[in-house]
Amino acid sequence: MATGKRYLDSRKGWRAREQGHSAKNAYAPAVERVAVIMAMEAEAAPLRDALGATPIEVPVWASTLPVRLAVAPAVGGRPEVLLAVNGRDPTTGVDCIGSTAAALTTQVALTYGPIDLVVTAGTAGGWHRSNAEIGEVFVAWPHIACHDRRIDLPGFDQFGRGEIATADLRELADALGCRLGIVTTGDSLDESPTDRERILASGAEVKEMEAAAVAWVAQLHGVPVTAVKAITDLVESPVATATQFTANLAAAADALQATMMKLIDQLGDQ
Ligand code: ADE
Repeated sequence: MATGKRYLDSRKGWRAREQGHSAKNAYAPAVERVAVIMAMEAEAAPLRDALGATPIEVPVWASTLPVRLAVAPAVGGRPEVLLAVNGRDPTTGVDCIGSTAAALTTQVALTYGPIDLVVTAGTAGGWHRSNAEIGEVFVAWPHIACHDRRIDLPGFDQFGRGEIATADLRELADALGCRLGIVTTGDSLDESPTDRERILASGAEVKEMEAAAVAWVAQLHGVPVTAVKAITDLVESPVATATQFTANLAAAADALQATMMKLIDQLGDQ
C-alpha cells in the first residue's frame, strides 16, 4: 500500500530498519513479521483458524510457562504472523488472563526472532458515554495506560500509570472502520469506584486486562506496539459485565478476527 509510510513513520526504532530487513523503499519500514499476543483461547481460535497458523514448540527456557505459540507463514503480501496465546493456568484450568501472563507471553514472542510490530488483540469493555457498541473494534491511540497501579510516590506515580505510545495506525484504522481510543489496563474485570475516577480522568475509551503489560515488554525490546480490541460489554450497563461478556464473547471474537485479518494484510502491503 503506497500510503503505508504515513501509518507508521511517527515511530522510531523499527526493528525492520535496525536489523536491515528489506524495506520496499527508503522511508516505509517493512512489516515482515507481526507478533499477535492474545489472552483467551476463545479470542484466539477464530484468528488462528483464519490464518491457518500451525502450533510450534516454545523455547526451552519458557517450557514451564503455559504460553502457546503458532506461526502462519508469509503469504503474498501478508507478513508472517507469530500468534502467542497466554494458555491455561495449570491450577485452575482457566485461561491466564491479565497482565502477569501477558508480560511473560510477550517476552516469549519477542525472543522468537525479529518482530516488526506487536499487536495485543482481544476483547474489552467500552462505555455508553463514548457511544461504544458491542462488537465494535478499537485500535489504540495515542497510548495505552494502566488504571489500577496507584503508587503515590515521586516518579512511581508515572511508572504506575504506565503510559506507552502506540504505533500510528490511524489511517489504517480508519480504512478498516475501527475507532481510535486510549486503551486502559487493570487486573480486574469490574470497575471499582477508584478505577472509575482514574479512567474518567485519563480519557480512556477501552478497558481490558493485558495491553499495558504487552506494551511495556514491547517497549523494553524497542518494538512498536498497538492494541486491537473488540467490545464485549458496556461498563456502566445495568447488566453485569460478566453476563454481557459471556453473551457477546463469540461475536466479538469473530469481529476481532475479521478486523485482524484485514489489518495484517494491509501491514504487509507497505
Ligand atoms: N474484557 C472484556 N470486557 C472487559 C472489561 N469490562 N474489563 C476488563 N477486561 C475486559
